[in-house]
Amino acid sequence: MSDRIARILVVDDEQSMREFLEIFLRREGYEVVTAADVDTALLHLESDEIDLVITDMQMPEKTGLDLLLAAREVSPETILIVVTAFGTTDSAISAMKEGAYDYLTKPFKVDELRIVIAKALEKKLLSNENRRLRRELRTQSRDRNIIGHSAPMQAVFDLIAQVAETKTNILVAGESGTGKELVARAIHEQSDRADQPFVAINCGAIPENLLESELFGHVKGAFTGAVQTKEGLFEAANGGTLFLDEIGELSQPLQVKLLRALQERSVRRVGDTVDRKIDVRIVSATNRRLEEEVAAGRFREDVYYRLNVIQLTLPPLRDRLEDIPLLAQHFIRNFAEDLGKRVEGMDDEVYEILAGYAFPGNVRELENLIERAVALTREPIIRRELLPTSVTEAREIKQEARVTEEGVSLEALVSDYERSLLREALSLTGGVKKRAARLLGISFRSFRYRVEKLGLEDPKREG
Ligand SMILES: Nc1ncnc2c1ncn2[C@@H]1O[C@H](COP(=O)(O)OP(=O)(O)OP(=O)(O)O)[C@@H](O)[C@H]1O
Ligand SMILES: [Mg+2]
Repeated sequence: MSDRIARILVVDDEQSMREFLEIFLRREGYEVVTAADVDTALLHLESDEIDLVITDMQMPEKTGLDLLLAAREVSPETILIVVTAFGTTDSAISAMKEGAYDYLTKPFKVDELRIVIAKALEKKLLSNENRRLRRELRTQSRDRNIIGHSAPMQAVFDLIAQVAETKTNILVAGESGTGKELVARAIHEQSDRADQPFVAINCGAIPENLLESELFGHVKGAFTGAVQTKEGLFEAANGGTLFLDEIGELSQPLQVKLLRALQERSVRRVGDTVDRKIDVRIVSATNRRLEEEVAAGRFREDVYYRLNVIQLTLPPLRDRLEDIPLLAQHFIRNFAEDLGKRVEGMDDEVYEILAGYAFPGNVRELENLIERAVALTREPIIRRELLPTSVTEAREIKQEARVTEEGVSLEALVSDYERSLLREALSLTGGVKKRAARLLGISFRSFRYRVEKLGLEDPKREG
């Protein structure tokens, strides 16, 4: 493609649109072919070397989505841009999911079209050249960071490899400590933006009034304390990836501003009058069930769909127990090296205890527990005594909750059991008490009462 003029196929049932695009694109210096329906378009894709397709979504017989699916088979290297009618975001989302490079909403500005095409073609050029190289890198880096041989983690790796190269926005969901940030970085590192910045921000950790200027920047004097003009993180991440952690914490007004940035692909610094173009891929993460937040009206649906073009859900550690030994070894090696100690592994009994533990704090909890054990051990093998009592006792409750000749305390056993059920419910809901109460079939008030009575900490606060 590099040594010839790019060839673009325009597909639209409306003659005026075809003509308009044909004239415009020829003037831009491209070769143009047109088709009024999907079948004709496919003939062109089969016989002409088409670099890029601009297709209408809504057409009387077969739709743009049909074309997208068929084009993947006939001409997988061709890039597709879809044009959707105003207010039909759903079809744009399904097109993106099926691999469309981008979409334009009618009516669009020619400038928008010009930029999208230029970027798409540039990307195609690069991706041809770099494909082999990147594939090599990917296999090297894959297991270095994210550990896991279980089927659910293999599925995660596959999905990462599949989506990394696209510029699609990705939502990483999963309980606290399951590795969401790690995955966000991996997506960036495996993408063609890897040599561009990866910028992370925790939306839950910054007060709302600061968050806006943090994200979008501000000009000098925009508000008290704005002594200097500052660029925002969107601008800092330009060309690369912006990781919006704990996106569920974003206030409604900021959701609106985010939506605008995503739609316009531009940002305006607080107090400024100009918009700045940005090209940023958004990976966001949440340990809340965002679809429920949407249903409850706390999170805007339009923002949700923009961020969640593809969702990647990380399984909790208790659903992939077979990964524990591997993870444990990985952490032992790391911490032993850090501390300059010779620690080789763990006792069988320790493995057994860990395999029976629910890990409400997921991989982070395992990591912390091993860090502590490696620091404390005086032998090369970690023994049971070095595990925190919360872990060893959790297991004893399960095993020994029965009446013996020596007598037991019913009260204490029942409390222990109740405590472990509340913990489990909290860990399942990522610390959201209302949902945990619902899971247990009790009222929120009663749940709160029990949490207090049993001295249970919210795992969110612990972690
Ligand atoms: N599969 C994994 N392999 C190796 N290390 C992991 C894995 N998953 C998580 N970790 C480690 O566990 C810790 C927690 O991971 P991370 O910060 O990515 O979790 P998180 O899902 O973002 O949690 P939170 O919701 O609390 O922010 C990190 O130190 C990370 O390196
Ligand atoms: Mg995180």
